[in-house]
Parts: sequence; C-alpha cells; structure tokens
Amino acid sequence: MKLFLDTAEIDDIAALNSTGLIDGVTTNPSLIAKSGRDMVETIAEISGMVDGPVSAEVTATDSDEMLAEGRKLAAIAENIAVKVPLTPSGLATCKALADDGIMVNVTLCFSPAQALLAAKAGARFISPFIGRLDDLGRDGMGLIADIVTIYANYDYPTEVLVASVRGVQHVVDAALIGADVATVPPSVIHAMYKHPMTDKGLEAFLSDWAKTGQSIL
Ligand code: G3P
Repeated sequence: MKLFLDTAEIDDIAALNSTGLIDGVTTNPSLIAKSGRDMVETIAEISGMVDGPVSAEVTATDSDEMLAEGRKLAAIAENIAVKVPLTPSGLATCKALADDGIMVNVTLCFSPAQALLAAKAGARFISPFIGRLDDLGRDGMGLIADIVTIYANYDYPTEVLVASVRGVQHVVDAALIGADVATVPPSVIHAMYKHPMTDKGLEAFLSDWAKTGQSIL
C-alpha cells in the first residue's frame, strides 16, 4: 500500500520524507491556505522534495479555466497529479488532461457511482473522502470496499486513494480492503509507529541488557 502525506507543510514533509516510507503528497486549497504560502511556489518545492506524485488542485469551476489551470499545474514538474473535483466540468477536464498523458487525481468523491465515472474519465487516482462520510454517520470504509470491487470487476487502472483519513484504523481498514493508497496527515503517520507494548518491551530489553555490563561496539 502506498502512503501519501496529506499536507502542504514543508517541514512536516521533509521530516517524514527522510524515513523513506512516503510515496507521495496530496494538497488541496484548504491545506495551501493553511500553509500561508504561495501555491505554485509551494507545489514546486514539494515536487522537488519527493519522487512520488504530488497532487495540486485546480480552483476554477468551469471546464475551460480548469483545463488552463490544470495544464499550468502539470507544467510545474513531471510528478504533478492535477486534482479536479468530481463534477461534470471536473471530469471533462480529467478526460482532456488524461488524454494528454497528465496524471489526474479526482477528488471529493462520496459515492461508488462517482468513482465509476472518474475511472471512465481516465483518472489516475480517485480520492473518496471517508472521514467526512464517517462524520455524518455514513460508512466511509464501505465506500472504499465498493470502489475496489467495481474497479476490479472491470480492471480499471485508476488507483483508489483513500482520503480524509482520521486515524490509524482508517489506514489499516483501507489496507485490509486492498486500497492502493492512503493519504494521511503527518500526525497519523507518527501514530502508526506507536504501541505501548513496544515502548514497554524495549524498556525491559534495555534494562536487562544494562545489567550485563556488555556493549556491542
Ligand atoms: O485530501 C483530502 C483531505 O485533506 C480532506 O481531509 O479532514 O478535510 O476531510 P478532511
């Protein structure tokens, strides 16, 4: 399973990219706004830091402007994935960009029907927002299972990129279902390392080792 970082914060990306465990980055207009930085400069910096896909989202709502924005974002670097919303204009833009060989991440997906359309439009990634569905008491992970089944039934190459992830269990559940990617806030990556039994066990190992008076080096 690929793990993408869902942030536009350069320091967080740099710190976690050094682990070698990060396969890409996703951003959106809210994350860019939160960073307080210029979007194009930030996306250019991020795309130079990581080898994997870096998602940059258009902000126009009509096809012509979306396409122009998408082409400008794609031109920033080879590893840019242009993010478009799951709307008629968004999917028209997806098809035009994908036909030109540009990676497209179709975002704000909340239903299997939407995901089916995105695959038919040539999306490289589909981003179902599971946390926001769960927030409404709906079954976010059930959506992931449905999309994975539909894509497997027709051998669609579109990768399921689980987004709006709220915690470690979302990542585990997505992996159990067989989603291709989870994009997660840095805090969730840090939480994935953690288990109290690991800390306790290591403390005991080191305490017993100290009693031997030995050293390996
Ligand atoms: O990648 C989409 C993600 O940033 C949305 O997360 O927490 O705003 O639902 P959230």
